[in-house]
Amino acid sequence: MTIKAPKPKLPPISPILQACATYVPGKPVEELQRELGLSDIIKLASNENPLGPSPIALKAIENEIANIHFYPDVNHFYLRQKLAARLGVTAQELIIGNGSEEVVSLLIRSYCSPGDNTVGCGAAFLAYRVCSQVHGVEYREPALNRDMNLELEELLSLVDAKTRIVFLPNPNNPTGTYLNRATMRKLLQRLQERSVLVMLDYAYWEYVRTKDLPSPEELYSEFPNVLVTRTFSKIYGLAGLRVGYGMAHPDILETMRKVKMPFNVTTLGLAAALAALEDEAHVKRSYDLNVEGIEYLEKEFQRMGLDFWPSQANFLLVRMPVDAKQVYDKMLTEGVILRPVANYRLPEFLRVSVGTMSQNKRMIASLEKTLRGFKA
Ligand SMILES: Cc1ncc(COP(=O)(O)O)c(C=O)c1O
Repeated sequence: MTIKAPKPKLPPISPILQACATYVPGKPVEELQRELGLSDIIKLASNENPLGPSPIALKAIENEIANIHFYPDVNHFYLRQKLAARLGVTAQELIIGNGSEEVVSLLIRSYCSPGDNTVGCGAAFLAYRVCSQVHGVEYREPALNRDMNLELEELLSLVDAKTRIVFLPNPNNPTGTYLNRATMRKLLQRLQERSVLVMLDYAYWEYVRTKDLPSPEELYSEFPNVLVTRTFSKIYGLAGLRVGYGMAHPDILETMRKVKMPFNVTTLGLAAALAALEDEAHVKRSYDLNVEGIEYLEKEFQRMGLDFWPSQANFLLVRMPVDAKQVYDKMLTEGVILRPVANYRLPEFLRVSVGTMSQNKRMIASLEKTLRGFKA
């Protein structure tokens, strides 16, 4: 028997929400399984670690599982201690979030009021827009430009007396591009004059290959208005457990701690993150696999005559010579999930996460076959 719930008589929806962007995640494997009845699916859509979590983290989860009737530690004591020791800061300079996305949301809720604005770089990670708008905060962005200097001049022109936060993901998602040391320092110096908070999103830092991208610690020690975010969702392979963190001056974090829900990170997430930090071999394996994958994909895209953005992360943004949405749909039928990025105003592109080498090869074969089908 199914219950038929009566239609609710709702109060009016907040006008703020009516105009909000929505975040569209990568298609989950189980959803495609249900929809198309496929069993052999690869998902290269959400920049996850194709090697999965560290075995040491899995063991830590097993060890902790009998304790899940207890609420988690509200202060995240051990994880903050361990991170503090590694980063050379105090635990007071760290806040743990339910993914680094929560840290974005805490920062906006702490420092922005309706009528204020936030500014991101061109085609910045969509969560900044969504989190700003749901809090009644205007989100601004310059046009994406392959000439970084032009884009950043436009970004600076968007900053005004009502700007509270500037988001600088480095490298950015979905472009994979980065701001180098000289550019970053110049930009931070100019933003400092404006008294705004600058969120440096280093979600993909562990994958960075160039030496010209400044470390989070380097910028943090020089620029006072900075909050750096990092995550356990990418190279540490714990996306499903939702653990990320922010590093900032205690004065910045004090306000954010007032906003944070007490039990925002789970016991299993905390245990797994602590253990994942220990498994340097897993991080190294994941990094090496990504380098091999990026080089392979770049070579293959070049061979196929496809235009792509150079990436310092674990994904590549590649331009489709035919309708990208149709390519995406066709590849789904072959069990290959990529990521359309039309919601970043990049309708001609698909974003491809780097997988294992066999996944990368299968993806290329499927893409090539799909594009051939469009030419025929
Ligand atoms: C630039 C960037 N920042 C943050 C995140 C979110 O990470 P988390 O899983 O820690 O919330 C992502 C996820 O895709 C991202 O691309």
